[in-house]
Amino acid sequence: MAQILDAAVPSAIRQAAACIQAGGVVAFPTETVYGLGADALNERAVAQVFAIKQRPAFDPLIVHIAQVGAVSRYASGIDGRARVLMQRCWPGPLTLVLPKQPVIPALVTAGLGTVGLRMPAHPVALSLLRAAGTPIAAPSANPFGYVSPTTAQHVQDTLGEKIELILDGGPCPVGLESTVCALSGEEAVVLRPGGLSVEEIEALIGPVRLPASTDADPRSPGTLPQHYAPRVRLTLLAPGQAIPLPSPRERVGLLSFRPVPAADAYTRHEALSAEGDVLEAATNLFAALHRFDRLGLDRLVVEAVPEQGLGRAIMDRLRRAAARGAD
Ligand code: TXA
Ligand code: MG
Repeated sequence: MAQILDAAVPSAIRQAAACIQAGGVVAFPTETVYGLGADALNERAVAQVFAIKQRPAFDPLIVHIAQVGAVSRYASGIDGRARVLMQRCWPGPLTLVLPKQPVIPALVTAGLGTVGLRMPAHPVALSLLRAAGTPIAAPSANPFGYVSPTTAQHVQDTLGEKIELILDGGPCPVGLESTVCALSGEEAVVLRPGGLSVEEIEALIGPVRLPASTDADPRSPGTLPQHYAPRVRLTLLAPGQAIPLPSPRERVGLLSFRPVPAADAYTRHEALSAEGDVLEAATNLFAALHRFDRLGLDRLVVEAVPEQGLGRAIMDRLRRAAARGAD
């Protein structure tokens, strides 16, 4: 099992930073989800991240930095759109895909000519980046294809056997991965909706293209149709669809958007938000999926959420999770 360090203890950041500097791998909190970090400039360290996650080498990692000013060391082609987004949305749940500088190893970017860069807003992530003094390449700290972790315990449960150190900074406040926005071409493209809404990006740089959830974009394997999936088979209800009665022969869970009456026929029921608030729903989503997954259910029925703001990213993850469970 990994050692879990309370990030509030000052020596914890030093220990984690020393591990990164020595070419090791550390799980750490960000405002979106927990990341599995290694020195982005050390190809051997990065190789371990791929091995631990069993992540295919064609799937590039996001490089995390501690300050906006560092961006030109790792990326080029930083235009007006990139500058506005960095100034207004960093630190925060936004990854910008830009042409890469040669200093970033090819393994990090899966051989692509672009790099995904993000300055996270979580104080523990920022302290770790500053103490390590190097950019940190970090995917979400989960086995490839599985639900992302939003607590240190989630990381322990799924990868604890394979890593030494987990920095515990409590539950992640946003709860969904960053929005990945490519600015490497003429047109801005949101490759993955996430913790920063598309509406907020459009208010700053004008219209962006948003490929449909079901188009697998080989440039961003987070867009594979079957991804972010819990083990339990998941049935996603259509927007507005009434909650069906579960089959009495199955153990079925219900994850509703807001509280619903008469969910007693279900083995277990949870609501994502007491008030029907998509922000709250986003924060709770992955933790709820982890909880349901521990129950050994036959099926999980999930109510649709309104597809606005973060609701778009929630529905993106739910559609992909349901694609694996489809039958
Ligand atoms: O919130 C997050 O983004 C978390 C935290 C730890 O920062 N990280 C995360 O990483 O979700 P990961 O590896 O699970 O997802 C990164 C996504 C993948 O879909 C990957 O394909 C895409 O970003 N990506 C990374 N670099 C890219 C690039 N150069 N071009 C296109 N897509 C890229
Ligand atoms: Mg991931």
